[in-house]
Amino acid sequence: MSDNAAKVVIAGGSGFLGRYLAVLLRRDGHEVVSLSRTRSDVTQTGVRYVPWDPTALGDWVEELEHADAIFNLCGETISGKRWTDARKADLLESRRRPSETLVQAINTMTHPPSVYLQASGVGYYGTGEDAVSDNGSPGDDFLAHLAMQWEEPVADVRTRSVLLRFGVVFHNKEGALPLMLLPFRAFMGGPLASGRQWLSWIHIVDAVRAICFVMEHSDIEGGVNITAPQPVRNKTFTTLIGAALRRPTFMPTPRFLLNLLLGEQAILLTEGQQAHPDVLMQRGFSFHFPQLEEALENLVN
Ligand SMILES: NC(=O)c1ccc[n+]([C@@H]2O[C@H](COP(=O)([O-])OP(=O)(O)OC[C@H]3O[C@@H](n4cnc5c(N)ncnc54)[C@H](OP(=O)(O)O)[C@@H]3O)[C@@H](O)[C@H]2O)c1
Repeated sequence: MSDNAAKVVIAGGSGFLGRYLAVLLRRDGHEVVSLSRTRSDVTQTGVRYVPWDPTALGDWVEELEHADAIFNLCGETISGKRWTDARKADLLESRRRPSETLVQAINTMTHPPSVYLQASGVGYYGTGEDAVSDNGSPGDDFLAHLAMQWEEPVADVRTRSVLLRFGVVFHNKEGALPLMLLPFRAFMGGPLASGRQWLSWIHIVDAVRAICFVMEHSDIEGGVNITAPQPVRNKTFTTLIGAALRRPTFMPTPRFLLNLLLGEQAILLTEGQQAHPDVLMQRGFSFHFPQLEEALENLVN
């Protein structure tokens, strides 16, 4: 991509990450079009929402014709509703179908965009103790299979493609962090399960800066971990939250209770992965919040 103003299309741009990405892109002078199943308006910051059907080609494809970059940030929220078989099918469908449709649209174009960037997650690697780089092997649990099937259509796209494997993106009001802080705010915080599980995280400011960095670097392709360089164990996370909020952290939550309350979804809290952003580091991306301590001080106070 050139350094000049570009046209950037964001499918699923009405969500948490998409809205912050759009703000940064607009600030840098780019035209931003958001494909949405529900919105068709223009925001105060000049983001144009265009309705689309993520399951079929339609008029919306014209918006892609002269785009320089396309982000695909679609997908129903992973946490929340219990992971029944029907819910799992919805989580997959809401990711796989937009991915297939966008790849199909790009492949029909005479002048495709110079880059297609699709969300994925560090859940791709499964869970465990070992450090995982951007070229790590996939895991073998539900989230790993979900990520693999979500990423699969991208192998066929006829342009540069990047799989943005996000860690948990931290913001003070949106995403997972406000929920994670609740027990601590209520003086009932503490380590979860063994407390040894890893957490790969990233501050929202660095998450959107990192994905713009990847968009602009034409030599970056394939899986890229969008995580801070310091993944932490749950025990460390607990201690740092306690310090940032000035709250006690002595109330552990046992694994069996989380399993009972959340079912299979408890894995989001009781297991984790130690993902490292090696591609970003090697290319010289500079994090504003590389350490969790600084990120939490910035977000929770
Ligand atoms: N936030 C994180 O910490 C994090 C971590 C790892 C991975 N990710 C992944 O990154 C992507 C963006 O995350 P986010 O936090 O911005 O998610 P989000 O706030 O839930 O937004 C996702 C967007 O996807 C669209 N969408 C929902 N269901 C859809 C469906 N069935 N078909 C097509 N589009 C659908 C919605 O847009 P419309 O309603 O306007 O169509 C929604 O605004 C997601 O795929 C998420 O799993 C996020």
